[in-house]
Amino acid sequence: MPESPADRVRLLRARVERANVRYYEDDAPEISDAEYDALVRELRELEAQHPELARPDSPTQKVGGRRAEKFRPFRHRAPMLSLANAVDHGTQTPQRFFARIRRELAPSENIRYAAEPKLDGVALNLFYVGGELQAAATRGDGETGEDITKNAKTIPTVPRRLSAPAPGELEVRGEVVITKADFLALNREQAAGGGKVFANPRNAAAGALRQLDAAIAAARPLSFFAYGIGHVKGGAEVDFPNSHTGVCEWLQQRGFKLPQPRTESESEDELLAYYASVRDGRADMPFAVDGVVYKVDDFALQRKIGYVSREPRFAVAHKFPSETAVTRIEGIDAQVGRSGVLTPVARLAPVLVGGVVVSNATLHNDKYIRAQVDESGRTTRAEIRIGDYVAVRRAGDVIPRVEDVVRSGADARAYVFPAECPACGAKTERRKMAAKNGGETTYCPNRLCPARLKARLRHFASRPAMDLEGFGVILIDHLVDSGKAARPADLFRLTRADLLGMEKIADLSADNLLAALDAGKRMSLARLIFALGIEGVGESTARELANFFGSIETLRKAPPECFAFVRDIGVETAAGMRRYFESEDGAAEVADLRAAGVMWAGGSLPLRRRFCGLLEFLKAVKNLGAAVPSSRVHRITGLPPLSGIGGAGLRRLSEEFGDLSALRGASVAEIAAVLGGKQDLAQRVAAFFADAHYAGVIDFLTNLGFAWTDEAADGDGGGGVGVGGSGSGIEGKVFVLTGTLSGMGRLEAKGRIESLGGRVSGSVSGRTDYVVAGDNPGSKLASAKKCGVKILDESAFNELLA
Ligand code: IVH
Repeated sequence: MPESPADRVRLLRARVERANVRYYEDDAPEISDAEYDALVRELRELEAQHPELARPDSPTQKVGGRRAEKFRPFRHRAPMLSLANAVDHGTQTPQRFFARIRRELAPSENIRYAAEPKLDGVALNLFYVGGELQAAATRGDGETGEDITKNAKTIPTVPRRLSAPAPGELEVRGEVVITKADFLALNREQAAGGGKVFANPRNAAAGALRQLDAAIAAARPLSFFAYGIGHVKGGAEVDFPNSHTGVCEWLQQRGFKLPQPRTESESEDELLAYYASVRDGRADMPFAVDGVVYKVDDFALQRKIGYVSREPRFAVAHKFPSETAVTRIEGIDAQVGRSGVLTPVARLAPVLVGGVVVSNATLHNDKYIRAQVDESGRTTRAEIRIGDYVAVRRAGDVIPRVEDVVRSGADARAYVFPAECPACGAKTERRKMAAKNGGETTYCPNRLCPARLKARLRHFASRPAMDLEGFGVILIDHLVDSGKAARPADLFRLTRADLLGMEKIADLSADNLLAALDAGKRMSLARLIFALGIEGVGESTARELANFFGSIETLRKAPPECFAFVRDIGVETAAGMRRYFESEDGAAEVADLRAAGVMWAGGSLPLRRRFCGLLEFLKAVKNLGAAVPSSRVHRITGLPPLSGIGGAGLRRLSEEFGDLSALRGASVAEIAAVLGGKQDLAQRVAAFFADAHYAGVIDFLTNLGFAWTDEAADGDGGGGVGVGGSGSGIEGKVFVLTGTLSGMGRLEAKGRIESLGGRVSGSVSGRTDYVVAGDNPGSKLASAKKCGVKILDESAFNELLA
């Protein structure tokens, strides 16, 4: 029977709505613009032919269409300019820049320059009114950017308020960056999900900043570094500095971080020496730096030199030489990862890249190899084939990657994933990875494939996981090959005799290995969850899970919908968790580790009451619907819960009802009254609460200690729901332990810190936040005093933990 127009209209609306969510909210369009336009066109035509089917809430009635702005425009008070580049060869060299400045100023003038690293991130403008952060915007076209205030506020190094005296209006300019390590971890997670990998840290930072969902932005570890100011107005009482160095000090005093190391000098030789030292040290810098910037320091001189089109003439970026090189792909190998996924790795004709010989480069996944097409359907990069000449990039200590196809080789041929696993010979299979990214991967389905076992054990033993010192690649390969270990728990059953045979191979002492295993038997829950190697569960996700659920048992029993309430976790992660616990391996693994004597300390929060705003709850419910199209949500109402209710509606519900029990007990009429009389929306809300399954989910969360109310929810009330954090003063902080604590062992202290999101480091450095000093502290206490690091005695430490 042919589809009726009414059915077709319903189907088209559902598709367009889904595409809108994917495009606007998830930043992961699933269909091309052309397909989208065709759907909308057909829907419009049908609605025109059948006026009885037209509805005010049809997606055709929404203004703007798909190309509408995701963010509101923000007009910069002073334009955001860009810098001219200078390189060591060519027409614009730094020497020519200095010569020009000398020419343009009177010979008697002392010209002092400020020099600082040029961070490779995303420019951000922070607009303060009366010292309060009022807006944050991207550069855009330099005149108007995108208002991303909400996301910027999730960056810990963006001050919300400036201490007095602050000017009436002030624009602070700077760069948003992500560390190279966080960038790599993010890409690993993306690649493992078969999804889009970011080309460089800058793209990763830009992606995070432009997330519509501030919770996702908050989950990406961004930092802001200020490098100047835009417009300043009013507050005559404020004696504003008149040089770049002065402004930098002023900003620093108000809590801004500045790009480091920095210098000032009148000597051009000194400036060039500074450049060389930053260039040579950049591999060790946590952030990507692509050059240094020289700026004439004095504002009066800056004004004299002036601007040309969109660039200041008093500053220049001295760029580092490129870290890319062109070479030929000689072959492509498939590496088998712990979940069985085959990662293509290019074998290259060896080439020097930024001073290092590179002969392998990752190609990430299937999708990455294929031709890259942008949103408008234009090919931005050809398919990567064996025999092609490609650009290889190595940024700092980041793994080399093939970035672009420069020229196709005459005998180039497309890469085909092997039909058999290169490690065990099993027939490979194709599998759709994380639905959100729509990628497909080839994988080895053999759970006992030696390559998979090795990769799994390597991950389990690795530093961020169980930290089993000495259990590196060579030892693990031998343990697997000799049949002494196949699963994580086997490691803890190794005897001295087993290990003695290994000493020669790995040059390790059996005693040290046994001691490492012993230490590994007491772990934090977060590390254990990460070590299990569940698809999509990275370090930060594991921490969130540990804090949220508090124990493995609770995690295992949790209804999948609960995951929508955990920060940084999507349905795909939830599905990965479920698959893991339902799989043969997963079900046995945890019990097996326990049986082998491994213990872990929980996330410690569950018994405390955790307050979150009702709005956070509603947002999480809404995310749940958008992300699980085929879940039972649809079977109840035909639409996801709360669909059709925008941000303003959710806010009204939260403000009017104040807490969850009030909203849960409300009648359709009462809800409709709050929603401006919209009966159908109100019914959807009521249907959600009336559903027994969802009631079970809410009860489960309530038993974990959650309460959704606006009353206690001022600030970051220790939540975890949606956007909340664990709310401790420990999260993100670096601790060093020294001496003996009377109340707990060192491992326990480490576990507690980590379960609250902190990190424990072995030595005191500029990045240490606290040194915890017990009895008989070692030399670390002295270094802490020298570096001015905060020192906690046992009682102060306990207080912080509590
Ligand atoms: S000064 C007139 N200092 O590089 C522009 N810019 O084109 C003032 N950048 O988009 C820029 N680090 O976002 C300056 N230490 C630094 C910088 C820096 C990175 C970025 C900036 C701008 C681009 C220059």
